[in-house]
Order: sequence, then C-alpha cells, then structure tokens
Amino acid sequence: KKDLISITDFTKEEYLRIMELAADFETNPNQELLKGKVVASLFFEPSTRTRLSFETAISRLGGRIVGFADPGSSSATKGETLHDTIKMVSNYADLIVMRHPLEGAARYAAEVSSVPVINAGDGANQHPTQTLLDLYSILKTQGTLDNLNLFMVGDLKYGRTVHSLLQAMSEFENPIFNFISPQVLQMPRAYKHHLEEKGIRYFEHEEFTDIISEADIIYMTRVQKERFSDPMEYEKVRNIYILKNSMLENTKPNVRILHPLPRVNEISTDVDNNEKAYYFEQALNGMYTREAIIAHVMNLK
Ligand code: CP
Repeated sequence: KKDLISITDFTKEEYLRIMELAADFETNPNQELLKGKVVASLFFEPSTRTRLSFETAISRLGGRIVGFADPGSSSATKGETLHDTIKMVSNYADLIVMRHPLEGAARYAAEVSSVPVINAGDGANQHPTQTLLDLYSILKTQGTLDNLNLFMVGDLKYGRTVHSLLQAMSEFENPIFNFISPQVLQMPRAYKHHLEEKGIRYFEHEEFTDIISEADIIYMTRVQKERFSDPMEYEKVRNIYILKNSMLENTKPNVRILHPLPRVNEISTDVDNNEKAYYFEQALNGMYTREAIIAHVMNLK
C-alpha cells in the first residue's frame, strides 16, 4: 500500500505526476473515481482548509466520508489508544486521512493500518499534502519549480508546512532559501543539514525589508501558538512580522505571497487585493491537489 506521511515518501517524479493530475482535476473536478469507496477523515486537531478540501475532494470523486472533526466526539476521550482506533477504522474504510497533534502519529498509524494513510499534519513535523498544493501554486504562478528564491517568514521552528516545503523544493534545480525568523523560531537544524548535504544555499535573517526585492515567493507563516509550552514566550513573538502593501512596492512583478492559512495578523488585510497576493487561490488549489493525491495513492488514474 502507498502512504503519504512525509513529503520525502514521494519522489520528484511523483510530485510532478501529482501536478499533472491536479491540473486535470482543475479542468474537470467531478470524476467518479471513488465510487463505492469509503474514506475515513480523522481530525484529532482543528482544521478548516485541510479537512474541508479533503472532504470536498472525496465528494467530487464520488466517495463517501466517515470520521470526526472534533476529537472530543471520538472514543480517544475515553482512553482508546491510537493503535486500536486505526486498527479498527482501517477495517471500515478504504483510505484514512488523519491529522494528529503528536509528531510521528501519522507514521505510526500507517504501520498499524491495512489501508493507505495520508498525513494531514502531525504536530510540528510534516504537512505533505499542503506542500503538494504549495508546489502546484508555485508552478502555476512562476511557470517553473526551478531557480526560485524562496523567502520563508515567521515560525520556522514549529511551522510544519515550511519543513515539508523545504524538502520538496530541494529536489528542484538551484533553489535559494531565505529564512526570516526570530532566533527562537529558527528553522530546525535537521532541515538546514538537509540543504547543506545537497549543497543548497540558504541564508538566515531576522529582518527582510531590505532584501524583499530578491524574492520570487514570499511564504508567510503564522506563529504556532498551540505549540508553545510557555504563553509568555508566545507573547514575545506573536506580532514579529506583519507584511503590508507598502513593503511590496519594490518587489519583483511576478513575486507571489503564499500562506498556508489560517492567518492571524501576519499579512495585513490591505494586501488581499494586491495582485501579488495568492493565498486564497492557493487554498482553492488544495482541493484539486488533494483529488490528485487520493487518485495517486489509491492508483485510480
Ligand atoms: N493550511 C492548513 O493546514 O489549514 P487548516 O489548519 O485550516 O487545515
């Protein structure tokens, strides 16, 4: 069976295949490939986009959905282990989509499950389906995934989307990474090591207004309040970066601002109508990309 737990579970060829399929689903989103199949949607942590775009994708593919959006309604609250939940659900369903607050929970679920598991986010670790929709968004707006200067801004320590995106973009030609974060939220050492091993250039900054003109993609992230053990530490960094329209005046004409969303205040709402803002279209791309991921994992196309 094919699982998607870490973005590195897929090859570059598979990323490109998903892009091809996503473009096909964008042209024709309603294809009955999941007719007669049941997908379990298990969200042990809050979600708007990932859950709703997955569930819309499943509906558009003609499949049926079982599951929960509120872990409080599952027997986990009575002390049932993840092992037992997955063992049983994998007997009910043909595919499991799961979000969980613990790093490694998705990999463990895949080991227990007899059907494919797709990781919809595990703690601060990985969010591979977000990365595939990010790649699709970058390809659509830049026309290529090669030779791009990526600015990753905000919470690079706990932001799982940037961890997966870094690994995926490192498979393409000649990327440059600019990491903008306060010291306490820097990109973890293991991900920087991944780039060093491949000889890929990266730079770390605490400010970016003076270098923003070099960016092809500005990937903003939310400071992940739920991952901080000390609320006072969160207070120190919560408003650290706020992207405003005035900051975009000297940027490249084709630069695009991405954000996995939800946004708190790290992108001022005055940016929303700027032609360089792409985050809402990015979220729509998530539906086509998740149709593509399901089709690929289940070998439906
Ligand atoms: N981007 C993302 O994962 O959003 P949700 O938390 O709303 O699913």
